[in-house]
Amino acid sequence: MARILCIGTVTLDIVNQVPCYPGDDEEMRILSQQQRRGGNAANTATVLAQLGHQTEFLGNIAADSAGNWISQQLTREQVGNQYCPRMDGTTPTSYITLSQQTGTRSILHFRDLPELHSQALTTLPLGNIDWVHFEARNIDHIETMMDYLQQQSGTTRISLEVEKPRPHVEQLFSKVSYLFFSRHYAESQGYTSPELFLQDLHSRWPRTMMSCTWGENGAYGITQEQGLTHHPALDDQTVIDTIGAGDTFNAGMIHQIVSGNHFTQALDFANALAGMKIAQPGFSGLGEKMQHHLDKTA
Ligand code: FRU
Repeated sequence: MARILCIGTVTLDIVNQVPCYPGDDEEMRILSQQQRRGGNAANTATVLAQLGHQTEFLGNIAADSAGNWISQQLTREQVGNQYCPRMDGTTPTSYITLSQQTGTRSILHFRDLPELHSQALTTLPLGNIDWVHFEARNIDHIETMMDYLQQQSGTTRISLEVEKPRPHVEQLFSKVSYLFFSRHYAESQGYTSPELFLQDLHSRWPRTMMSCTWGENGAYGITQEQGLTHHPALDDQTVIDTIGAGDTFNAGMIHQIVSGNHFTQALDFANALAGMKIAQPGFSGLGEKMQHHLDKTA
């Protein structure tokens, strides 16, 4: 078991399941509605807790009733959140349309809450933290936090999830040991091939482990020792709910690397875990399902 801190956002997700996406000016009955706790870093933290790690989340939580609910949910999910600043503002809310036809989702996101200030990290006891995972958002503050971590404990490993292009995000790349990229980010940089994207980036930051998920093509990774690896998605993948599949993949990789496993084995595991996530609604029970799968295949 490792001590892992995830820094980023937590949201309220209102998930409307519909038979298919509505057309313009169309009225449609939804099949079901669920209120969930979401947010990339919080989702990753939840899955890491299920995989048996002592997990802490750090991010702003709004001082409103949804914020209280979110904090209770995190606690129920065994994710520590007592150092999260409670801020004036509104809980960031995602209105998510989940299509039964495709299993894919579209998100309308409302945000009226300040981003996390780097100062928040100084309130948290950092002793024995093995891994800190960041969601790339407010770059300047994240850079300050990374420098602070480096000063406090040179041995803590740091990962960064780069989901969207943000000005100056590249200035963080040399400060981390692992970079998680999305297809969206790679495409925003003009790449149509995940292999080329990773090879180019890795030639600039050769000591950093990197991966990039590419939807139905699966996951790609690169390290200095093992070069480029590809793990295809399952052929017969059941697609029920893709919300947080990338966040789950990230948790799977962190879990494996922090546990001392090889990169290719980690990619295998993270891919299988993300596949399990896609085949079920929400995140509950993923850790157990994965354990069961491993016992069966051992
Ligand atoms: C999934 C997710 C949702 C959240 C949205 C924020 O990756 O974190 O839980 O509402 O993305 O962009």
